[in-house]
Amino acid sequence: MKALQEKIKQDGLVLSDQVLKVDSFLNHQVDPVLMKKMGEEFARLFRKDGVTKILTLESSGISPALMAALELKVPMVFARKKKPLTQSADVYTATVHSFTKNTTHEIIVSRAFLTNRDKVLIIDDFLAYGQAAEGLIDIVKQAGANLSGIGIVIEKAFQPGGERLRSRGIRVESLAVIQSLKNGTVSFLEEAYA
Ligand code: G4P
Ligand code: NA
Ligand code: NA
Repeated sequence: MKALQEKIKQDGLVLSDQVLKVDSFLNHQVDPVLMKKMGEEFARLFRKDGVTKILTLESSGISPALMAALELKVPMVFARKKKPLTQSADVYTATVHSFTKNTTHEIIVSRAFLTNRDKVLIIDDFLAYGQAAEGLIDIVKQAGANLSGIGIVIEKAFQPGGERLRSRGIRVESLAVIQSLKNGTVSFLEEAYA
């Protein structure tokens, strides 16, 4: 997605060969106009799939997921990382290990909001090692729901998540695919141009 690539070029900060900081429009401050365009693009890509629910993970997945949900006119559910006071016992849980942060935590979704009648589109902000996606896929499986595919805002192609998921036949659509962050420069995979 051209507008996203331009925003990354303009406002993204390359922190290392591994990490891109996009706090000014995605991970802290949020650009609603760009977010809406991303929602439209996810909706265009998955419109024919009969998606009934969008599933993401708090916190940064929520903005793009909500915009896609608005466009597809289906509910958006975000997995929680902390058990809320009001949470019932009827939950699906999965374990997510973060390589970037070297932490492991549980993610939680209420059984009330995901069932075997759902066709699920998973959306997340970053795809790196794919651990967040794996946790969400685990929850889709526990629900007996159907997985339509995965929509990602920024995929880092030099990390293994995307290849691992696609090699299992899972449809992964990324709006921007980064080939490399070497020398403080963002290089996109040209095929990602839409
Ligand atoms: P994985 O899910 O693909 O395995 O990724 P990983 O464990 O490496 O990432 C853990 C967290 O770091 C996730 O956010 C993920 O979105 C984010 N992340 C990974 N690579 C980058 C990057 O290059 N830049 C930025 N800005 N974030 C990255 P999280 O812990 O779930 O945080 P939240 O922002 O959703 O609250
Ligand atoms: Na994040
Ligand atoms: Na995330």
